[in-house]
Amino acid sequence: MSNITTTTTKTKTNIAVLVSGRGSNLQAIIDNIESGNIESATIRVIISDVTGAYALERAKKHGIDAVFIDPAGFENKSGYDLKLLNILASYDTGLIVLAGYMRIIGKDIISTYKNRILNIHPTLLPSFKGLHSHKQTLDYGVKVSGCTVHFVDEGMDTGPIILQSCVPVLENDTEDSLSERILEQEHRIYPQAIKLFIEGKLKVEGRIVRVSK
Ligand code: GRF
Repeated sequence: MSNITTTTTKTKTNIAVLVSGRGSNLQAIIDNIESGNIESATIRVIISDVTGAYALERAKKHGIDAVFIDPAGFENKSGYDLKLLNILASYDTGLIVLAGYMRIIGKDIISTYKNRILNIHPTLLPSFKGLHSHKQTLDYGVKVSGCTVHFVDEGMDTGPIILQSCVPVLENDTEDSLSERILEQEHRIYPQAIKLFIEGKLKVEGRIVRVSK
């Protein structure tokens, strides 16, 4: 009797994570990949525009390449973006994940990686886009907030929405306490959205993202 073994080679999606700070979302994503919850993906590189960002330390602890690109080393934004594009290409990047990355992603990167760039924002978009989200949330007096994972388009926090999660805004909330409550949800839904992407379960129709089971 012949013994036939079929081997399927699953190609892993190479992820590049762009960061500027502490990287708690990055950590949640690393943990989900290491535990096998997100399969068929590997984080190839962490890129920061801030030297000494703690996220870079996290990368090193997990044996992931950590790259600092100094914005001061470029005359203009297109020079910086070109450098970024080259690094992304050199890692054969299939998905870009923005995790607390504080720079606007340039048009060339967006068109090269159309519907392959994800971001997380700590409000229920389209409310309170941009900076100081928790302050905006508290100042406005909304009773419910949360976080949103979305595809990145050319606008600021305007791309098609993939997942959202709600949290209550409490009477005595400070920016810190609200942020802490929202972060818990961020760490849950960001890996979940990445998993859906990797599994090919997200379909973008205009600004609607269809999520298949
Ligand atoms: C998070 O609140 C995220 O929603 C926002 O920036 C913060 C990054 O935090 N885009 P961390 O660096 O992942 O801890």
